[in-house]
Amino acid sequence: MQERILPARRLYGSIVLPGDKSISHRYGMLASLADGTSKIHNYSKGADCQSTLSAMRALGIEIESNSDTVSIHGKGLDGLKAPDGPLDAGNSGSTIRMLSGILAAQPFVTTIGGDESLSRRPMQRIMKPLAEMGAHIQAREGKYPPLTIRGGPLTPIQYTLPVASAQVKSCVLFAGLFAPGVTSVIEGVRTRDHSELALQEFGAEVEVRRGVISITGRPHLEARELTVPGDISAAAFFLVAAQLADEASITIRGVGLNPTRSSLLDFLIGMGADLKILDIVQSGGEVSGDLQVRKSRIRGGVLEGDMAAALIDEIPVLAVLGAISEDGLKVRDAAELKVKETDRIATIAANFQQMGLAIDVRPDGFDIPGRQKFHAAEVDSFGDHRIGMAFAVAALAADGETVIRNAEAASVSFPGFYDVLRSLSA
Ligand code: S3P
Repeated sequence: MQERILPARRLYGSIVLPGDKSISHRYGMLASLADGTSKIHNYSKGADCQSTLSAMRALGIEIESNSDTVSIHGKGLDGLKAPDGPLDAGNSGSTIRMLSGILAAQPFVTTIGGDESLSRRPMQRIMKPLAEMGAHIQAREGKYPPLTIRGGPLTPIQYTLPVASAQVKSCVLFAGLFAPGVTSVIEGVRTRDHSELALQEFGAEVEVRRGVISITGRPHLEARELTVPGDISAAAFFLVAAQLADEASITIRGVGLNPTRSSLLDFLIGMGADLKILDIVQSGGEVSGDLQVRKSRIRGGVLEGDMAAALIDEIPVLAVLGAISEDGLKVRDAAELKVKETDRIATIAANFQQMGLAIDVRPDGFDIPGRQKFHAAEVDSFGDHRIGMAFAVAALAADGETVIRNAEAASVSFPGFYDVLRSLSA
């Protein structure tokens, strides 16, 4: 499917975003392992989070969805049953990696795979700690999906994360739920802590001290009623869009502001963005609030070190911002970009070239000169939701109509994205 995006010089309006993708996955999995019926409001309707629900259904969990709420009839830690066939994680790295931690403890064998993109993503990062805990996992070529997981009793481990990855951390913590004793994950770089917060919400004992996250196994998890805040990674597209227009004032309601995700706001403010946070509320251990963004002068920036890990999902749209900034954007320490839904260094560079923009690619990032002009072109999502959405935002600043090929990829995290974007220029 193609989307045609016209330039827009004025962006005004108030919008609501889908529920946070990361938090939705965690609530979907943990509610399935809790006793009783959890009600999750604003659960993401994106295809990735629906893949998690389908997998939980295939594992014997009854789940009902209506327009706003997902009801999950959890069966307790030992309530999952062997699925009739392979589980399909679709495009979702979070589903396959985090759910593998749970599957590793089941008294049955499960095969889990996904689409073409997921089938090329590295899985040794979860296979290694799960093998240390006692699970037997086979993978295509020893490292790619589909995974065949022969679950069984697990033993607790202390695991130092070799890559900054919240998915790997969560996988080990979820496996730790089933291991009698204390399982610990040691992280050198702090990653998003939604699993720690969600585990505590559902009643697990989780302790976090100086980069060591410990979970006590075999807790009794209780059903909860929770609301998923709006996805700050989805907000990023509109925060950047506002800077590409001549005039803009956008309010984004109910956005998740968890401190392990909100360094995006610090980075944008550091580049000169005019951003305000209003009406902060706390619920289910997560913080959310309204964001108000206005068009302002954007200087430029360097994204490196821990910040590169914290903003890894936002880099495609920050690249677009870098091109209109005064001094450009340098990205370093972001080699993880190469193993996302696409090799994002390559797909960003390919679309930059299509739009007549300069970019200097490096092994761990890129340099983008500032003050560039965007030319209308045919660009491609390459099947990657964040690439499709980032270049739809770029198209707002182009000198004519831009075509986004394979635009439907946006629905992985944000069904209706293009309509919301157009509504701001209507
Ligand atoms: C996620 C963690 C990040 C992020 C992904 C979602 C999560 O991946 O890129 O979109 O929900 O834990 P890594 O753990 O691979 O860094």
